[in-house]
Amino acid sequence: MNADLTGHESEIELTNPRVEGDVELAFEGALRPQSLAEFVGQEKVRGQLQLLLTAAAMQKRTPDHILLAGPPGLGKTTLAMIVAHEDNRPLRMSSGPAIQHAGDLAAVLSSLMPGEVLFIDEIHRMARSAEEMLYLAMEDFRIDIMVGKGAGATSVPLELAPFTLVGATTRAGLLPNPLRDRFGFTAHLEFYAEHELEQVLTRAAPLLGLDIERRALAEIAGRSRGTPRIANRLLRRVRDYALVHGGRADLAAVHAALELYDVDAIGLDRLDREVMNIILTRFGGGPVGLNTLAVSVGEEAETVEAVVEPFLVRIGFLTRTPRGRVATAAAWRHFGLDHPQVGLTLDDL
Ligand SMILES: Nc1ncnc2c1ncn2[C@@H]1O[C@H](COP(=O)(O)OP(=O)(O)OP(=O)(O)O)[C@@H](O)[C@H]1O
Ligand SMILES: [Mg+2]
Repeated sequence: MNADLTGHESEIELTNPRVEGDVELAFEGALRPQSLAEFVGQEKVRGQLQLLLTAAAMQKRTPDHILLAGPPGLGKTTLAMIVAHEDNRPLRMSSGPAIQHAGDLAAVLSSLMPGEVLFIDEIHRMARSAEEMLYLAMEDFRIDIMVGKGAGATSVPLELAPFTLVGATTRAGLLPNPLRDRFGFTAHLEFYAEHELEQVLTRAAPLLGLDIERRALAEIAGRSRGTPRIANRLLRRVRDYALVHGGRADLAAVHAALELYDVDAIGLDRLDREVMNIILTRFGGGPVGLNTLAVSVGEEAETVEAVVEPFLVRIGFLTRTPRGRVATAAAWRHFGLDHPQVGLTLDDL
């Protein structure tokens, strides 16, 4: 029962869905699809976006504001760039943490060009005062600027060029309703199916100058935690392996490389395993409250909720109940642990 499911340090980088440093950023730039047609999967969202962009183009107006919601590495930034690129619109990139005062936002908004796409990443982390300024800007393309201080302060309206706001968030639930309501459309990105990740990899391999077996790609896809960013990252490690060992990038190379990096058969990362470990071994399978869980693994509750849990729920290892998180029978089985109620059959209930 005392299994250590956490594995080794090297795992942290490889299967962590969040982006890791400059080298990775450079690769992401090179591998990013440039158009909706090139964008793999997310069928529904692609259709919805296509319609929204086409209608706006037909009426020669700026497209409605778009909110992109979903776990890290599924393509939010990529889609924001595509929205600009599809229509040849200029793109301005900013992020919630960079907007700590209304003035920061005013500076960005007042310098937008007509039709520009403004991307605000992690929009749920923007300052409250800026949020209120954004309501008016989104609705009326106007902001009120405060001039002077104290009793003599007056607000001066400032007209803005029409723009399209594309917001991205891993925590749609944290956005205040007035902000959420002002987006014309919210795209909920889902984890990718294995065959979709295979397509992502098939596209990425030649861009990395890699000649790789189809079966090898399928194997990588199955261990990528439903996330294109991780798929691309594992592909680079397999490329390294083939390069160093002077062999082909085949199934054997995938097995060897991923074993070297401790990527398990279904691609769980260190934190995934630590969370499951705590629920299974310390709390007897749950229910465990989110905050207790976060403290136990030494992470922020936000990270556990937005990064770790969605995938564990998706693969059926975890359920969220009003009393807390509960491990499923499939989770007990996967980690080779005895379910406390094992031996109990339907007849006993
Ligand atoms: N549908 C897709 N087709 C092909 N490649 C994709 C797709 N989605 C994402 N990618 C690849 O995955 C990488 C990560 O995507 P992206 O940066 O858009 O994720 P994100 O949702 O913005 O993540 P974060 O929440 O961490 O900002 C990109 O470099 C891109 O190459
Ligand atoms: Mg991003």
